[in-house]
Amino acid sequence: MPIEAKLSAKKPARTDLLAYIITKEELDRPPSEFEANYLESHDFKGEEGQILFAQHNNYSLVLIGIGEESFVSAEKLRQAGVKLLRGIKNFKSITVDIGSCSYANEQKGQAVQAFLEGAFLGEYEFNLLKSKPEKPVKRTINILGSGANLKKAISRAESISFGVNTARDFVNLPGGDLTPVVFARKASVLAKENGMSVKVLDGLAIKKAKMGGILGVNRGSTQQPRFVQLTYKPQKSSTKHIVLVGKGVTFDAGGLSIKTAVGMSTMKCDMGGAAAVLGSMLATAQIAPNVKVTGLIPLTDNMLGGDATRPGDVLRIKNGKTVEVLNTDAEGRLILADALSVASDMKADAIIDLATLTGACMVALGSQYAGLMGTDETLIESLKQAGKQTGERVWHLPLPDEYRSQLDSNIADVKNIGSNWAGALTAGLFLKEFVSEEVPWAHLDIAGPAFADAPWGEHPKGGTGFGVRLLVDLIENF
Ligand code: BES
Ligand code: ZN
Ligand code: ZN
Repeated sequence: MPIEAKLSAKKPARTDLLAYIITKEELDRPPSEFEANYLESHDFKGEEGQILFAQHNNYSLVLIGIGEESFVSAEKLRQAGVKLLRGIKNFKSITVDIGSCSYANEQKGQAVQAFLEGAFLGEYEFNLLKSKPEKPVKRTINILGSGANLKKAISRAESISFGVNTARDFVNLPGGDLTPVVFARKASVLAKENGMSVKVLDGLAIKKAKMGGILGVNRGSTQQPRFVQLTYKPQKSSTKHIVLVGKGVTFDAGGLSIKTAVGMSTMKCDMGGAAAVLGSMLATAQIAPNVKVTGLIPLTDNMLGGDATRPGDVLRIKNGKTVEVLNTDAEGRLILADALSVASDMKADAIIDLATLTGACMVALGSQYAGLMGTDETLIESLKQAGKQTGERVWHLPLPDEYRSQLDSNIADVKNIGSNWAGALTAGLFLKEFVSEEVPWAHLDIAGPAFADAPWGEHPKGGTGFGVRLLVDLIENF
């Protein structure tokens, strides 16, 4: 990582850069280095997102406003981190005073973690494919403070940002580069480096395991499919087990129900769920909470080769249920069906799947909210809570029994599409068919937030790594 963060007990030497995060209220007693009339003459009011530079007694100073004290939150501090690092590009070392508002005082660890996440994530650039990438400059952030709690906050921010930025890299790699085989290989290396165990099924093994959903979607492709299983086991034997499932369509052309050129142009992002599962497990393995976590990642692309699945074909999913495929572009649910069947047999305490599943969810919620559906109120509540803490916004949508009959098929157990309306919900209802009723299950449709058409918050254009922070927070508090 080009930025290193550490704790610093005292203010820096005078030639260094010193940054203050400050609320509107704190301006009544501004840092001693600032002269009150300087702030006034520059119209600095501590509004959220305001930033001011000053030179005083050889100090280079920066003030970053975060608005009113009573509204300070992890998310505001995260955005302050983004603002600071983007606002000042050319420094080698900076010391940051996280502030003395009540949030920063009472939850200093969380405040530092959020601020650093913003700094690390806001800095990200994807330049693996540039012929002459800019050399990253090594920079240091010194956080004013001390203690084991703050040390932990720093390393947690580092692990989470590593997970998110890895997921972003995976999403940003083109479909022609990151094939299922390459995804599986890269994921295995990273997982093993971080102490996880890995099992990879190749095409033959997937056939033997009777994963008819993956095989059906893969039929139109010259690329081999893969099924990756990652396991994080805590040192102490844990009584809890979470299974994560991620949609890994490395490119979605739509199959014979082909997409439009515009619709297809960002479809390298269709493995965003798989990337989030990998990224969150990498971060989890580093943070080492006392919960067992399994990641299941079905991988294929969705192409239109001569033997591609035809609309009307019937597939047999791993759990024995048959599916009439009436639209080959509704492929994510087919590969998830196999993975959810495997997950259901694991008798876990929770199953959570993440998928860039439907354009309908994007229409409903836009690019900053994931659709959240599921069968267990407690799990839904925990995910909502994790969303609040991490800034990864989720919105609870229903799984209405009234719409289930839309999936009835004349010739198979179910069909893979519903009517024209409520596409996110009928997709959720389809997935529910493949989850054991005994296991709490939640589904996150991340079609909107997985890929940014324009920069927002801490995200540049492209892969966002959405879901990593949400899952890590959920796992840690499970
Ligand atoms: N991968 C797409 C969903 C998607 C759309 C993700 C936009 C990200 C951005 C998915 O496989 C798909 O094509 N879904 C269809 C389902 C339909 C045929 C029932 C859709 O949403 O149009
Ligand atoms: Zn599709
Ligand atoms: Zn898709």
